[in-house]
Amino acid sequence: MMKGILLAGGKATRFRPATQAVSKQLLCVYDKPLIYYPLTMLIEMGIQEIAIIAAGETVDVYRKLLGDGSRFGTTFTYLTQPEPGGIAQAFLIARHFIGKEKVCLLLGDNIFLNAHPNRIAAMAANTDNAYILALPHRNPSQYGVVSCSRRGEVLSIEEKPQKPQSHFIVPGLYFYNASVVQTAENLQVSPRGELEITDINKYYWKKSTLKVIYPSKKTKWFDAGCPEDLYHAVRVVRQKQKQTGKQIGCPEEAAFRQGWIGRRELEQSMRQNCHSAYGQYLMELMEHA
Ligand code: DAU
Repeated sequence: MMKGILLAGGKATRFRPATQAVSKQLLCVYDKPLIYYPLTMLIEMGIQEIAIIAAGETVDVYRKLLGDGSRFGTTFTYLTQPEPGGIAQAFLIARHFIGKEKVCLLLGDNIFLNAHPNRIAAMAANTDNAYILALPHRNPSQYGVVSCSRRGEVLSIEEKPQKPQSHFIVPGLYFYNASVVQTAENLQVSPRGELEITDINKYYWKKSTLKVIYPSKKTKWFDAGCPEDLYHAVRVVRQKQKQTGKQIGCPEEAAFRQGWIGRRELEQSMRQNCHSAYGQYLMELMEHA
């Protein structure tokens, strides 16, 4: 069984003043909070036990928004990141939560569309290797960058390189076995003062146990890490929803399709949201169930 970590801390300084009093992952992406999108992805991957890591002062806000997880047929464990010490710090904070299980880490500002999460999870669950994704990007220098041989072996992995070795970036979705906790314990803090997720990946690469998954070519990915990228995500989500009449990032729907919740839970969520298009959508879902 794989556990999930949703990382929703960080300073979000690129969003100030909007994030002076509000966590970035609570900002609205068209018609729902940003965190709904990665949460839905975890549910679509079949992950039911999820730790939500947030900064101390925002944990209660997440609890108010998402509850204990039962609304989605999941269990949420809320954990605090006292200071933004880097993405890899998540494994230290969640060490007891992870226990002996495999774990998937998803960044709370990453949105995937058409990624076929169930297929990705099935590939990553297969063996004891560590898995990252690789997606082509026009501006790789802003992200983790991976280059691979024709046979799929990793040749290099770097964080925000000035001269990228490839145009494949590593989005914020990672899979490891429980040994990642020990790997994080042995990491050195980077020059920018963080425990870097790319250093974790380098460790597994050097042990030849880092594997790369290439999602479907139709996959769209957004790192809503700055206003411009968030705006782009808003436009795409809005356009897609209008085109298809379907919600993107609807955890209730994902849980319902997994068979984790029934009409009763759908109805409860629908009542909470009854004056919005989101609530209307849940009602239609219920009626067609
Ligand atoms: O989005 C994908 C990229 O995410 C990867 O390609 C990079 O390799 C990876 O380092 C990361 O880069 P970013 O520059 O986007 O990381 P950022 O500092 O913006 O943090 C990403 C998310 O993680 C964001 O939602 C905030 C959260 N976070 C970050 C840090 C450093 C935390 O919750 N705590 C932290 O200490």
